[in-house]
Amino acid sequence: MKSLFRIITLIAVSLIAVSCFQENDRNYQYFPNMYKSASYETYLEYNTGVFENGQEAKLPVEGTIPRGWMPYEYEASNEGYENAKANLENPLPYTEDNLNKGKELYTIYCAICHGDKGDGKGTLAQREKILGIPAYNDAGRAITEGSVYHVMFYGLNTMGSYASQTNEFERWQIDHYVMDLKRQLNGEPKREFEKVDMENPSSMKKGIVLRDIEVENHNAQDSLHTNGAENSTMEMHSESEMKTEETSKKN
Ligand code: HEC
Repeated sequence: MKSLFRIITLIAVSLIAVSCFQENDRNYQYFPNMYKSASYETYLEYNTGVFENGQEAKLPVEGTIPRGWMPYEYEASNEGYENAKANLENPLPYTEDNLNKGKELYTIYCAICHGDKGDGKGTLAQREKILGIPAYNDAGRAITEGSVYHVMFYGLNTMGSYASQTNEFERWQIDHYVMDLKRQLNGEPKREFEKVDMENPSSMKKGIVLRDIEVENHNAQDSLHTNGAENSTMEMHSESEMKTEETSKKN
């Protein structure tokens, strides 16, 4: 009697175990909420009619731009290139600080191909991984501040775009350094550093960018705040302020 009961229980349990089995589906989920969130997923499509564009994430309001980002008005075309080459100028003042930062960034992003001196003989060129890297004083190319920026923004053939790795401000710092390398390759004298009155940005011909520097600082501050590293951001903020003060004194 006892063993019959056991057998029946065993059969019942096995039946329960296999009864809801479906081959094409996950049959058992441990904590289903971990797989399927009860709240709306930001980028999933929903046909609930609740969201205008079918997803929780909204598109930015037309005509608005993210803070610290400026639209780049030259097109990714040959005309755009020529146009930028002829008309686009570096809005950043040519200060020692900007040049040094440019050199740092250039060494990170560009030197591997273009070489520390900008002669087109970086490590990847020497190992023949990338061919056709020009020297910055290549007469046929006659690069300008504008063309250098344009190429960094969109890339050129085998050279990729640096628009996502660098921000506008950093690209202009690199730009100063690239033009500096070009002068060095040509044996031209060093360009004199510009005077910048940080106290009075409107006195500068290029006031816009100063506002962007502030935005950059605030953005850095915001992102670090969320990481809870408040002290270091305070230092960063005041350090960069001090630096700009220093340069204005030096000049
Ligand atoms: C992967 C290697 C590589 C890296 C990294 C690279 N470049 Fe280039 N760059 C090239 C090649 C190749 C060309 C030639 C492209 C062509 O004309 O087809 C070029 C061309 C250029 C030119 C000349 C464009 C013209 O107007 O003719 C400039 C200026 C330039 N690069 C700047 C930079 C800067 C600044 C960086 C760093 C932000 C950089 N490059 C990083 C490979 C690279």
